[in-house]
Amino acid sequence: MYSNPNGSGPTAPKKVTAPDVRARKGGPALAMVTAYDFTMARLLDEAGVDLLLVGDSLGMVVQGLANTLPVTLDEIAYHSRAVARAAARAHVVADMPFMSYQVSSTQAVESAGRLVKNGAVESVKLEGGEDFAEHIWRIVRAGVPVMGHVGLMPQSVHSLGGFKVQGRGQDAEAKVLADARAVEEAGAYAVVLEAIPPDLAAKVTASVGIPTIGIGAGPQCDGQVLVCTDLLGMGRGHSPKFAKAYAQLGDAVVAATRRYVDEVRSGAFPAEEHSYKPNRAAESGPRVSEPSERGQGRVVNLRH
Ligand code: KIV
Repeated sequence: MYSNPNGSGPTAPKKVTAPDVRARKGGPALAMVTAYDFTMARLLDEAGVDLLLVGDSLGMVVQGLANTLPVTLDEIAYHSRAVARAAARAHVVADMPFMSYQVSSTQAVESAGRLVKNGAVESVKLEGGEDFAEHIWRIVRAGVPVMGHVGLMPQSVHSLGGFKVQGRGQDAEAKVLADARAVEEAGAYAVVLEAIPPDLAAKVTASVGIPTIGIGAGPQCDGQVLVCTDLLGMGRGHSPKFAKAYAQLGDAVVAATRRYVDEVRSGAFPAEEHSYKPNRAAESGPRVSEPSERGQGRVVNLRH
């Protein structure tokens, strides 16, 4: 019996495992959210999400890139370690970034192993269906649970001609279905369905025995995933059609920081309660306002 480093004793929550996720086919619905750092992951875990995804979307969200392609395995491992430290209950799954698994199934096993060893994750996710079934099979045989990802695969943005809804038309529908089935047959414990019509997502969900986790795939999936900054309203630009903001933290951050800036400039912060006890209480003297070099009033302590 191992103790959980994020909690101990009888009150420590039970970790969600890949088999637990697999067993949630048909309900209760799975809630997955992306996370890239300790602070956010701890809050999301406390809120009860089932899975934390260290997505390669960190290229856009954390690094300000236009797409996920430049993200490296080391970067995913670095962010995963921070997220894993915070996840007392949620299952931690990390994305395998572009060119960390596409070259060969051997490369895929090695990269997955590095994410488990260096990133402390509990499973990995990779984009691709039939074309990558062998890679999934080999990783699973090596002891690492795999989540598939079909439909819109952002690492293929250049061959898809942009971030576009997939699975429109008979052939494209059949391809998404075949991809999801191939992922299941290869041994994946769940599969993400990204940006496909809701009726196709329902069809896929009914025809595979593993949970489907949708993003832009409508309500008839076994779970949903959102990027944390979309969920919390922290983006300042375009928000995808499928994203729902449950708070406006971006506005809250800007408003709070404006108040801080104002208080620093006016001298209202730090107040006495934010300062340590002076060494010589009697000598520390009164706080008086005097003009700063820039000509604005500010509060100074005459002793410092
Ligand atoms: O990287 C990511 O955030 C993802 C989700 C969109 C599923 O893969």
